[in-house]
Amino acid sequence: MSDNVFPVPAEVAARAYVDDAKYQEMYRRSVEDPDGFWREHGKRVDWIKPYTKVKHTSYDYHNVSIKWFEDGTLNVSTNCIDRHLEKRGDQPAIIWEGDDPSEHKVITYRELHHEVCKFANLLHFKGVKKGDRVTIYLPMIPEAAYAMLACARIGAIHSIVFGGFSPDSLAQRIQDCESKVIITADEGLRGGRSVPLKANADRAAEKAPVDCMIVVRRTGGAVTMVEGRDVWYHEEADRVSDHCAPVEMNAEDPLFILYTSGSTGSPKGVLHTTGGYLVYASMTHQYVFDYHDGDIYWCTADVGWVTGHSYIVYGPLANGATTLMFEGVPTYPSAGRFWDVVDKHKVTIFYTAPTAIRSLMGAGDEHVTRTSRKSLRLLGSVGEPINPEAWMWYHKVVGEERCPIVDTWWQTETGGILITPLPGATALKPGSATRPFFGVQPAVVDAEGNFLEGATEGNLVITDSWPGQMRTVYGDHERFVQTYFATYKGMYFTGDGCRRDADGYYWITGRVDDVINVSGHRMGTAEVESALVAHPKVSEAAVVGYPHDIKGQGIYAYVTLMEGEEPTDALKKELVAHVRKEIGPIASPDLIQFAPGLPKTRSGKIMRRILRKIAEDSFENLGDTSTLADPTVVDDLITNRQNRG
Ligand code: WTA
Repeated sequence: MSDNVFPVPAEVAARAYVDDAKYQEMYRRSVEDPDGFWREHGKRVDWIKPYTKVKHTSYDYHNVSIKWFEDGTLNVSTNCIDRHLEKRGDQPAIIWEGDDPSEHKVITYRELHHEVCKFANLLHFKGVKKGDRVTIYLPMIPEAAYAMLACARIGAIHSIVFGGFSPDSLAQRIQDCESKVIITADEGLRGGRSVPLKANADRAAEKAPVDCMIVVRRTGGAVTMVEGRDVWYHEEADRVSDHCAPVEMNAEDPLFILYTSGSTGSPKGVLHTTGGYLVYASMTHQYVFDYHDGDIYWCTADVGWVTGHSYIVYGPLANGATTLMFEGVPTYPSAGRFWDVVDKHKVTIFYTAPTAIRSLMGAGDEHVTRTSRKSLRLLGSVGEPINPEAWMWYHKVVGEERCPIVDTWWQTETGGILITPLPGATALKPGSATRPFFGVQPAVVDAEGNFLEGATEGNLVITDSWPGQMRTVYGDHERFVQTYFATYKGMYFTGDGCRRDADGYYWITGRVDDVINVSGHRMGTAEVESALVAHPKVSEAAVVGYPHDIKGQGIYAYVTLMEGEEPTDALKKELVAHVRKEIGPIASPDLIQFAPGLPKTRSGKIMRRILRKIAEDSFENLGDTSTLADPTVVDDLITNRQNRG
């Protein structure tokens, strides 16, 4: 950990919405009088029927219920589009930068309105009604934003599935929310390579049949269209009008479902609703990035993740911002791509993930220094802890010591950023997400749930609700309660560990449950294990994370084979391919160790603590192994470990 402190630069303070005194004052009010605070800030979005009620939430284990602005009505798409038309109809809403540097497109707010209304009418024409679920499996093209906003316009609930997920993962997510429509594209394009999205969607639909598949033409690659089910977006869009009346939604009507991994079971459908989510996404976007008119804002995430939902689409567009959407990857055609795009579009605010920073850091400074980057004034980081070395490189080489870095901690479940610096208010410490946003009350507890005071380390909980919080697990409220409110009764448990220093700054140390974070992608170890044991040659598997220079964490799999199977390198490759097929490339194990036995207690429980230590190559102190059913398996695991430091 670093003790360097970077004070707020004078130029940053001069233009920022809040300085430290204002932060303190607003924060105090937000927690002492949440009702009054959010009553005022809820007005930042346009309501059809204004709310009279503000906060109505209970963290009581026996009655978890979260409602904000519950008697207000609004429409998210009009907030993100129509209300800006008068003042900024000709302003770019979306700047789209293609995978190939020769391709880009600018979509004004007026054009966005036209496109979204058409898409909404098409969905309507296909029978999609308020409350229906629509699965979106698209690459990073403007149609992804159109599709999201079109759903919001007619009150349909979108469920976006990241394009890197396999047909099986897609099918599982279609089935879980019983969606009858998929929106996909012929192919995606990333780093010059095509991704067969339509073919994947076809395979998913064999398992999870849908009534309709809307296909956007991206590459022109060959696809098979199923008569009566599949339609081309460009053909259908020509037939519908570009006027579409928005549906009046209650603040607590669902806006979207997004599946995310937890420590057990299949991915959970995190449900976000309309009013509180939009208020929170737009407010955090404005304050955390200190967004002002004229800024060009770029978040490099994919819309398949929550960061893309809140900080490419909903937050920025609700604020009338110009948001850049990038189809490609950081290293194509060169490791200077990000900075070339920054120069090309004069990006002022740039928000990315530590894994990208670390990989670019490894590619050499010359890719950065050959570019100008003089438009940049603020940098952001999200998705996993940023190590101080990567922070310093980002600060010095990319930002030329001029741009503050906002290290934003949050989760799919939280809807928006919870712990973060504010550029004009917060002195920075490399590696720390610093202080809570307005209305957010973090606390550190020990394993029994006792509050730890002052400078300390433990588990991170949030003691009261904020408007962007998830409301439930789609179709399974009990799972919501058990996952987040059962560990420490009366508090929201984040699953993260953290340290709080003497200045009250929070330092997130990573997950304390069986979730691993691979290149900023959340992965449940249980999901990878169940994919492995689904292979006919595997009898048992245990998966843990281990430190990885670029990815943050890598996936380490211990595999016990069926009696008589040979532990060969070819089989390792086969198992990796198998996991990719079952879940998707993002779940590929980095290291596989064949283990004749796994360390188990006498009652048969796998002792993951030991497996984690061996995977981390720090097995000198394994703690008490005397309770193991067969202590000798540990020696074999150590001898044959894959991660020799
Ligand atoms: C981790 C992504 C440290 C954390 C928005 C959290 C972070 C999980 C940070 C959520 C950060 C996210 N510093 N850790 N700034 N941001 N995390 O749901 O472990 O994909 O619980 O949401 O990522 O991942 P998710």
